[in-house]
Amino acid sequence: MPDSTKHLLLVEDEAPLRQAIAEQLSDRGYQVEQVDTGEAALTKLADFAFDIIITDLRLPGIDGSAVVDGALERYPEIIAIVVTGYGTVKDAVEAIKRGAWDFVSKPFQIDELLHVLDSAIEQLRLKSENAYLRAQLEQRDRFEGVVGRGQAMSRLFQLLETVAPTGSTILITGETGTGKEVVARAIHQGSSRRLHRFVALNCSAIPETLLEAEMFGHVRGAFTGAVGNRQGRLEQAHKGTLFLDEVGTMSAALQMKLLRVLQEREFERVGDSHTIKVDVRVIAATNSDLTRLVAEGSFREDLFYRLNVIPVQLPPLRERKEDIPLLVQHFLDKFAKEGSGPMRPERKSVSQDAMRRLMAYHWPGNVRQLENAIERAVAFSAGRAQIDAGDLPDEIQQAQEAALAAAVTLPEGGVDLGEFIGGIERDLVQRALERTGGNKGQAAKLLGLKRTTLVEKLKRIEKT
Ligand SMILES: Nc1ncnc2c1ncn2[C@@H]1O[C@H](COP(=O)(O)OP(=O)(O)OP(=O)(O)O)[C@@H](O)[C@H]1O
Ligand SMILES: [Mg+2]
Repeated sequence: MPDSTKHLLLVEDEAPLRQAIAEQLSDRGYQVEQVDTGEAALTKLADFAFDIIITDLRLPGIDGSAVVDGALERYPEIIAIVVTGYGTVKDAVEAIKRGAWDFVSKPFQIDELLHVLDSAIEQLRLKSENAYLRAQLEQRDRFEGVVGRGQAMSRLFQLLETVAPTGSTILITGETGTGKEVVARAIHQGSSRRLHRFVALNCSAIPETLLEAEMFGHVRGAFTGAVGNRQGRLEQAHKGTLFLDEVGTMSAALQMKLLRVLQEREFERVGDSHTIKVDVRVIAATNSDLTRLVAEGSFREDLFYRLNVIPVQLPPLRERKEDIPLLVQHFLDKFAKEGSGPMRPERKSVSQDAMRRLMAYHWPGNVRQLENAIERAVAFSAGRAQIDAGDLPDEIQQAQEAALAAAVTLPEGGVDLGEFIGGIERDLVQRALERTGGNKGQAAKLLGLKRTTLVEKLKRIEKT
């Protein structure tokens, strides 16, 4: 339970006045300590964190300004109120400039002082509430950049919540574009290592010979072209996180060296015999099936187990279609923000028709492909506030038709065949008419029907 009692230190050399104020404040529920000199005040402050200090400015010995300074230096959150007598208003203003909350001038009514106290306490409450809200927002943003709200992602967030702070080695698997790197960054951000670096190294993007030097660094002359000493990514990530992307492509020799890093937390730069100790959290990622590579003998089993301490599997986008609208909003925001100047694009909307196609598509390139599709659609819909199906890449525009074909699996609960087929018929007729601008002859051709048959069907459809 937080202590809501307000502890107040009252510094005043005139005893009768001090007694009177103390009594009134105690009656209002303040826990009051009284002292009559600046020295005594500083002694009290040294052992106890008061919420509030009220001090006369003119005191024998150390004056009130110095008391306020001492209090604020130690407790930036303390409320300091100064009491001024004749001729010290200027000093009071100085005290406020240095951080005192407010001042009251002698002689004052107790209500005046109480009012100042009330408003100070209210401000403090708001401030801590804001801090609380901010903390909550930070909490929500802990996995910032990782968008998703459906079941699969909620489960993932739960897992991240528990494993991120641990510092354990993590292996992230998932198809290309599922967000392995964004998740790795989010894990880093969710750990105490966030104050240090997140260093990414893509093992498949660099030729084998250079990869070793890139990872471990090298000394001058270690190989042709090694002109100076150089730190590797491992050293750069000291106290932080090293993200090893596409670990499945590492050579046997490098796998062995990585294993040593994970086991002993030490390594040598290429061409050097001096051993370097590092404190690094490794997050590895792969879009290949490492267990298969282990079975085939191209990936060390011991390394696999060292990396796979905590497996995190990212679902392909087609298995979390419920997140597509959210991701679409996220990317629309992103591309609206990226524009600048008078050409800065407004945040666009997406027609429901386009959204249906986006949700029907199977997204082999996952979130990355969706991001690219939205970027393209934003460009193609220039001058319009809404993105329409026609702004999407062809294969996605055609997704709806493909999805219809895919829908012809028998649902668990069975179907009403007539109604089901009727629905598909209505849909296709409508589409054919849309595509031909309402021309029934051409629409009939598209559907492989005689014009008269289409007209009959239309009549029937209109009745239902
Ligand atoms: N859950 C997500 N929320 C928001 N953006 C995402 C999400 N997942 C992926 N992205 C975006 O998609 C793009 C691809 O993500 P990322 O690079 O992390 O994928 P990857 O799994 O590492 O792919 P690859 O295997 O091809 O390296 C990035 O631009 C990223 O910002
Ligand atoms: Mg990647």
